[in-house]
Amino acid sequence: MKVFVTQALPGGGLDRLAAEHDVEVWPQPAPVPREELLSRAPRLDGLLSMLTDHVDAELIAAAPRLRAISNYAVGVDNVDLDAAAARGIPVGNTPDVLTDSTADLAVALMLAAARRVVEGDAFVRRGEWQTWEPELLLGWDLHGATVGIVGFGRIGRVVARRLEGFDCEILHTGRSGGLALRELLERSDFVTLHTPLTPETRGLIGGEELGRMKPHAYLVNTARGPVVDTAALVDALHAREIAGAALDVTDPEPLPGDHPLLGAPNLTVLPHLGSATYATRERMADVAVDNLLAGLAGGPMPNEVTRPGP
Ligand code: GLV
Ligand code: GLV
Repeated sequence: MKVFVTQALPGGGLDRLAAEHDVEVWPQPAPVPREELLSRAPRLDGLLSMLTDHVDAELIAAAPRLRAISNYAVGVDNVDLDAAAARGIPVGNTPDVLTDSTADLAVALMLAAARRVVEGDAFVRRGEWQTWEPELLLGWDLHGATVGIVGFGRIGRVVARRLEGFDCEILHTGRSGGLALRELLERSDFVTLHTPLTPETRGLIGGEELGRMKPHAYLVNTARGPVVDTAALVDALHAREIAGAALDVTDPEPLPGDHPLLGAPNLTVLPHLGSATYATRERMADVAVDNLLAGLAGGPMPNEVTRPGP
């Protein structure tokens, strides 16, 4: 069957796919242009998509033969699940294998922001380091802090486990009980986001929510950019309503070099690296390929998305 893979993937997963199907891999490092994806759609039986591809109703309608969609991500907000379901096309994702790496990065961002790691590095490189000083680049401790975890799913729970080692008090919201968001925001020294992006979580952290946070608190986002209202965050950082933000994901992505967010103080930002380790990206390729192989064979995918949970 004819399969299109929209980016080259690390590891041997794609070889296994190519052993069974007619596979084409988009050869360039940049995302496939929309027109290119649409023009290929009519011939495709299977699609292995990246989170940068909009697998929307238009694309699905343009692909009458399509019988399996495998998204190389745990998040599936880039896929129109209803449009896929209406055609009976299964959609796969890559949970579990990226949980630990993403949780690690969330903790790295907490430490980087509160201990001013990036700022300190830049300070030394600019040649500004004259002497050791008792009050040079003081920050806040992660150990012993109260950390509010918004979204207590796979990743949020592992972040909590990591932070036990830092003697943190953990608060959480989420489907399985926990606090109201408002109380979590008011009590936390760090607020870390681990929800999927759904209609319910879009803009979840806006001006009012940022205003409820403590002035010395940090916001960390390794989930999806649009869970935070970017303009409100820019305002809150300029007004020093919170101590800082550390973002692995932004709205928009990629963030243009002249975006107002980059002019805000106390911001640490990364280019969506949550799962970006050699081992995890290879495992994700294996899971994505297993999903696609199963879907093309007409069976259930090992990791098939049913509907986005809140
Ligand atoms: C990355 O953001 C993912 O959803 O896997
Ligand atoms: C995603 O893997 C989550 O449920 O946290």
